[in-house]
Amino acid sequence: MAAPLLCFAVVAAAAFAGASGQELTADYYDEACPQALSAIKLVVGAAIVKEPRMGASLVRLHFHDCFVNGCDGSILLDDTEGMVGEKTSKANNMSVRGFGVIDAIKTAVNTACLGNVVSCADILAVAARDSIVALGGSSYDVLLGRRDATTASIDDADDTIPNPFMDLPELLANFQAQGLSLRDLVVLSGAHTLGYSRCVFYRDRLYNETGSLDPTYAAALDERCPPAGDDEALASLDDTPTTVDTDYYQGITQGRALLHTDQQLYLGDGGDSDALVQYYAESPDKFWADFGAAMLKLGGLSPLAGQDGEVREDCRVVNQG
Ligand code: HEM
Ligand SMILES: *[C@@H]1O[C@H](CO)[C@@H](O)[C@H](O)[C@H]1NC(C)=O
Ligand SMILES: *[C@@H]1O[C@H](CO)[C@@H](O)[C@H](O)[C@H]1NC(C)=O
Repeated sequence: MAAPLLCFAVVAAAAFAGASGQELTADYYDEACPQALSAIKLVVGAAIVKEPRMGASLVRLHFHDCFVNGCDGSILLDDTEGMVGEKTSKANNMSVRGFGVIDAIKTAVNTACLGNVVSCADILAVAARDSIVALGGSSYDVLLGRRDATTASIDDADDTIPNPFMDLPELLANFQAQGLSLRDLVVLSGAHTLGYSRCVFYRDRLYNETGSLDPTYAAALDERCPPAGDDEALASLDDTPTTVDTDYYQGITQGRALLHTDQQLYLGDGGDSDALVQYYAESPDKFWADFGAAMLKLGGLSPLAGQDGEVREDCRVVNQG
């Protein structure tokens, strides 16, 4: 009985502070649903035990949510008769995954909170952090109080999510358009310490960029990803795809970047990006600290807050009536 009332009080207080997105707080659910964060962590942990790759997939979902009109849960909306959402956009179609786990989290959280209290956008942000921690990364604070979008757009997703064929200047411009820096680009790309890519995204690099590829690494990949066919063949983005570490950076200094865009961060020309990659390759402690700070920045990208948007009951559909 008390939960909805408390929830209303928290929402009202946030609205009072103004709806700019600057008002996200770490303790947002402490009164309305103190069990929320532990409920999320439990489902994330179980999903990763069942399938270690899921941690990577959940981190990527949060990134792709935030880059399209801010962290507002828009990526989770299914298409409707009147709306083609983000799920079939170029970067996401047949690629992003974890929607079933998000559904399971939402159900668990609504049960734990005795009602619809926690936004889907916040669930994505917390699930990403919990995945990083479950796979050996350092923890960082996640600010909360995002509200969920009531619409999504395939065109917006196509316009804003970076693709793996971009060169460094394009990548940088893409991140700068979100208010992110070269350092943020290099640090956040460190998320490729987890997970896999399909052959369609690294084939070009494999056969057309041999100059910057370690030959032993390339030979092993050639077997998986032929010049034609096997589009779905997976290869890991670094040597340890279920452990958060700095192997990703070490790999790209040695010509073992899987994606063209990863190798672009280290061109061997002594540029600023090279220096950052070298720095994180050599200083895991700096990576931990900066990665958490950059995830905070990513999670703060123009979220709906206050009374904007809604708290979706089902993350796949806009609330009815
Ligand atoms: C810098 C520009 C980026 C580009 C061009 C890019 C591109 C890609 C591509 C092509 C894949 C493979 C997808 C597939 O084969 O289906 C991938 C996977 C992944 N990306 Fe990125 N990415 C970028 C930045 C990021 C950032 C900033 C994060 C998170 C903070 C991230 C997290 C991930 C993760 C965790 C995976 C593995 C997902 C899985 O195994 O399910 N990426 N990325
Ligand atoms: C998404 O992928 C499926 C399967 O490859 C394909 O049939 C469909 O046309 C794709 N959708 C878009 C919008 O590209
Ligand atoms: C390599 O580049 C050429 C020329 O751009 C292109 O025609 C070819 O399809 C590429 N090869 C692969 C395997 O992607």
